[in-house]
Amino acid sequence: MNSLPYKCAAFLVVALMIKTLWLPSSSNFSGMRLNPKSDNEKSKFLEVPQIVWGLNNQKIAFARACLTARLLNRTLLMPSLSASLFYKEVIQLRPISFDKVFQFEEFNARCQGFVRLGRYSEVSDTGDVFELQKGNGRRWTIEKDLEQLREFGKAPYDEYQVIRVVGKNPFLWHDHWPTKDYAKIFECLVLVEEISLEADKVVSKIKEIGMEERSRVSRLQVNVNATLQSTPYVAVHMRIEKDWMIHCKKLEQRLNVSEICSSKEQIMRRVGSIVGLETPIVVYLAVADNLLEDNSILEGWGEGLLPYEKKKLGVLDVYKKHPYLIQSAIDYEVCLRSDVFVGNTFSTFSSLVVLERTQLMMSVGVAQRCGLDVRWPSYAYNLEGESNGPRPWAANMSDVSLQAISYGSNRVSCW
Ligand SMILES: *[C@@H]1O[C@H](CO)[C@@H](O)[C@H](O)[C@H]1NC(C)=O
Ligand SMILES: *[C@@H]1O[C@H](CO)[C@@H](O)[C@H](O)[C@H]1NC(C)=O
Ligand SMILES: *[C@@H]1O[C@H](CO)[C@@H](O)[C@H](O)[C@H]1NC(C)=O
Ligand SMILES: *[C@@H]1O[C@H](CO)[C@@H](O)[C@H](O)[C@H]1NC(C)=O
Ligand SMILES: *[C@@H]1O[C@H](CO)[C@@H](O)[C@H](O)[C@H]1NC(C)=O
Repeated sequence: MNSLPYKCAAFLVVALMIKTLWLPSSSNFSGMRLNPKSDNEKSKFLEVPQIVWGLNNQKIAFARACLTARLLNRTLLMPSLSASLFYKEVIQLRPISFDKVFQFEEFNARCQGFVRLGRYSEVSDTGDVFELQKGNGRRWTIEKDLEQLREFGKAPYDEYQVIRVVGKNPFLWHDHWPTKDYAKIFECLVLVEEISLEADKVVSKIKEIGMEERSRVSRLQVNVNATLQSTPYVAVHMRIEKDWMIHCKKLEQRLNVSEICSSKEQIMRRVGSIVGLETPIVVYLAVADNLLEDNSILEGWGEGLLPYEKKKLGVLDVYKKHPYLIQSAIDYEVCLRSDVFVGNTFSTFSSLVVLERTQLMMSVGVAQRCGLDVRWPSYAYNLEGESNGPRPWAANMSDVSLQAISYGSNRVSCW
């Protein structure tokens, strides 16, 4: 008992016990972590069906699932997104795990205290499930939907470890949350590095071309400071493909408004009339793939505007190795990072880009949100602004729902 090795061992045991007792459980001392199981035994989960449709509809549906989980005081089990566009054949939906597109840990870090994503491995009793059938159809009103959700936050449903939503996909759920709650979720969505590096490649290519052009001009004229980082570009989300044109004409009829569809010529004219745009400048055209064969979209832009799409930029191979969802995410990122963004207020893609850009402005405390003098200005080409240009556009962060963004509107929160 008095041997030196024994004393050493005893000392170590005592030291370890003291550490266990006294170190706060949040400490990074790895051996002392609380067993995650004991945390999760208290956790309750919400499971939702695979999320479908376009990238931005998927983002909205995902946010809606998160906010539903928040309402039920539950952790959202990481859902599957869909890599391909939604067609009638369910087989073609190609599920892709959320964490193949967005960073899982980063999401939880940024959204901590608001919503949490969990993994299926955290569920300790996979049999302890209650299936929640959401209603649908015209008689399933927004009030009924909310009432049902509230009901499921209470006894006896709150006892189940998992509530599994079955039936229609979450994008079709009713909207019960203000824009700022959605914005909070979008802020937590960060692309995985593999995808953001692809966006870097595209943006670098755009900037290289812009810089060359500006250097060439600066030799002739005065003072254009050409550095790659500071070389600006415009991104235009140009919706003129046939499907869209049919859809927007119908929408114009149904809503009895004339400012939804914009022709190629109108878009070019309005972008060319943005007051104060410093030329020469690259105009990146985010267009549907079938328009890449249509060279006329590259002709007719005003002087100093250098139109490029993925093909002319020489980055088609960067996109083509990815499924639809990722390609769309890369284009979204290129539009988001642009110095000037021009889109259509009836497009979910455009609207979410503008929402995120408005958030960026708010995060750096910009009071004014509209016009070229601000950082990250956006414009709507389907609405006429001053001097025949597009109308300045910012998201209304105090909107009571996401309705305007998910279904389109011509309210732009700028005068
Ligand atoms: C744990 O480590 C991470 C990164 O290593 C750090 O950001 C965090 O603040 C640490 N937490 C504590 C409680 O020390
Ligand atoms: C939410 O759930 C946690 C544990 O999962 C519990 O401690 C907390 O009281 C719940 N809050 C509400 C408002 O039900
Ligand atoms: C060009 O850039 C340099 C260094 O970044 C700066 O000092 C200079 O003022 C700039 N010139 C103009 C005309 O913006
Ligand atoms: C459509 O709007 C115009 C003016 O904006 C109005 O004169 C017309 O009555 C409206 N038509 C319908 C069917 O509401
Ligand atoms: C933003 O939305 C709120 C609520 O719908 C509305 O009262 C307000 O007038 C809107 N602000 C702008 C600038 O459109």
